[in-house]
Amino acid sequence: MILYLLEIIMDDVERLKSKAGIAACDFIKDGMKLGLGTGSTVHYTVIEIGRRISDEGLNVVGVPTSEVTRELAEKVGIPLITLAESGGLDLIIDGADEFDDNFSLIKGGGGALTREKIVAQSSKSMVVVADDRKQVSVLGAFDLPVEVLPFEWERTRDRISSMCPGKVSLRGGSSPFITDNGGYILDCRFGASISDPQSLEITLLSIAGVVEVGLFVDICDAVVLASNGGVLTLINQSGCLR
Ligand code: A5P
Repeated sequence: MILYLLEIIMDDVERLKSKAGIAACDFIKDGMKLGLGTGSTVHYTVIEIGRRISDEGLNVVGVPTSEVTRELAEKVGIPLITLAESGGLDLIIDGADEFDDNFSLIKGGGGALTREKIVAQSSKSMVVVADDRKQVSVLGAFDLPVEVLPFEWERTRDRISSMCPGKVSLRGGSSPFITDNGGYILDCRFGASISDPQSLEITLLSIAGVVEVGLFVDICDAVVLASNGGVLTLINQSGCLR
């Protein structure tokens, strides 16, 4: 019975992810250069883009934010280019682990935060796809992912620990998770206390060995949010899609 209920809940979450992922494609216009995010929600976006290319003749190119997304994009027939070749992107669609009322994000649950931020910062606009579990008033209940260099990573962890109220854990433990860049991920337990994500991002980035921090501030322009009540698009009034 419990297993059966769990399966129903999982199906429900998956359905919401697919709704958000597909609805976000309404932001895509013919001729656009797209950033292709990483994760289980934007997975549905990438598949839908592939479908529109083959069924509707949509003409777009994409820059993937991870090797997993690269493989999926190639499989569904999205022409891929590099950021350098693109000369800048029109739009990135990506997932998030949390977003707050100011459209600040925690990202990196899938470990792709560094490439995701590089691609997002090269894009005119960013649309996030999420289900309603990701909406929070204060960031941090989701452990903040920080990519670090493997070199003497324990020192980097100790420096981060000195400013983090909770545990800082090496993702994967004794078999560390390795990012596409050859880095490690430290998951930092701040708790729902990150009220000034910008200064925390700057402080963490000043620590030697930190490659990138999974806080995205002033980057997200809209969130396509799926809940059992339907799909809602939240527009950032300080962003460029208003
Ligand atoms: C990948 O590193 C992450 O930033 C994802 O975009 C984020 O974890 C959201 O993923 P899901 O859509 O799978 O929850």
